[in-house]
Amino acid sequence: MAVVSPPEASASALTRNRIVCFVDDELSAAALRKGLEGSNLAIKRGTIRNAIRMLETDTELSALVVDISGIDDPFTELERLASVCPPDVLVAVIGESREIIFYRELMEIGLSEYLPKPLTRDMVLDQLRPKLLSDVAPGAADRDRGGHVISICGAQGGAGATSIAINLALQLAETTKAKVALLDLHLQNGETAVMLGLRPGPGLRIALENPMRADTLFLERAAIEVNERVCLISADEDLDAQLDITEAGVRHVLGLLRQRFNYIVVDIPVPFPPSIHPVITLSRHVLVVLEAEVTGLRNAHALRAAVTNIAGKDRVFTLLNRADRPGGLPRATIAKALGAEPDMVIPDLGKGMTQAVNLGIPALKHVSRLRRHLAPIVREIAGVGAERKGWLRRLFG
Ligand SMILES: Nc1ncnc2c1ncn2[C@@H]1O[C@H](COP(=O)(O)OP(=O)(O)OP(=O)(O)O)[C@@H](O)[C@H]1O
Ligand SMILES: [Mg+2]
Repeated sequence: MAVVSPPEASASALTRNRIVCFVDDELSAAALRKGLEGSNLAIKRGTIRNAIRMLETDTELSALVVDISGIDDPFTELERLASVCPPDVLVAVIGESREIIFYRELMEIGLSEYLPKPLTRDMVLDQLRPKLLSDVAPGAADRDRGGHVISICGAQGGAGATSIAINLALQLAETTKAKVALLDLHLQNGETAVMLGLRPGPGLRIALENPMRADTLFLERAAIEVNERVCLISADEDLDAQLDITEAGVRHVLGLLRQRFNYIVVDIPVPFPPSIHPVITLSRHVLVVLEAEVTGLRNAHALRAAVTNIAGKDRVFTLLNRADRPGGLPRATIAKALGAEPDMVIPDLGKGMTQAVNLGIPALKHVSRLRRHLAPIVREIAGVGAERKGWLRRLFG
């Protein structure tokens, strides 16, 4: 049933109440229709596979109910669902199994509820409705829900941090079909917007300075579409502006982004101002980008140590960019100075990379080899091939 809304109602208000169900039988559909009455409800015929297809293009919803009856390997389908489902969307499952172990596994991976068939109106009313339509504030566990944060920082000027952030964001979205935000925390001389041929949206500085002034509408204004899955959040403040970025502001903006996007790729200024420490703390991956030069090597050490102090050792990855560039230090020297081989390597990709910058188009569209070299990094981040439950647990919260 479509709900007619007044024109001034915001998109996010509509999203908050929209529940979409994909079920395969009329009995379940009727039980859901009665049990979830009063919400902005859409009941469609189908299974989890149809839900995955819908989420690839439509993610404006607050909750999803999917049928896994007849699906041979529900965990594989749930994994695919998790990769396209925004982190703040609640997901409930309907199926045929009555096994308690199965139920526990589904709860462990972060689903909101599981109901076995045959579904009745009372089951939906008592067990599903409170989980999907609760007006109570999210609990502490829910506050930690959210998209993966990936921070990228350069060990020396011009190491390629921004190029890697932009193209990684694009390729992550393309590979996983997930929603990706590209957040540029260089508010005064950020280059992401220029490199993408876009103009920054308004409001990022104010939101970072004063979290009280950033509501959910902030994102609708500040996030500029790069393509249907990727948004850019950046600023272009005057070079002589006195910024007063606060830790609370950074935490709030990141929280808003983590609700709406599966991945948030952040171009981080170096050295890290204390106010942006929460970004490092919340990052699953921090990529320290360096070139094969003495300066890069020296700073990479210091940067790795700084990240480790803030967030722990397991988050830091060293990315050697423009490897084998003529005149650069030999690989053996680099490995010796770093104390280990770099975790990731991208070779020098020639003048096409700089041409792309000057054309204002992503290098991915201009330098065909880049995609191949970013692929292992995308795999590392998206966890393809990672242990199944860990992967699911992180994605559904
Ligand atoms: N692998 C590569 N091969 C060839 N050129 C590259 C490569 N990576 C980046 N470049 C080029 O190097 C230049 C600097 O890159 P970029 O601006 O991304 O670096 P940065 O670390 O963000 O610099 P800054 O310190 O200014 O923030 C750009 O012209 C970019 O196209
Ligand atoms: Mg840069």
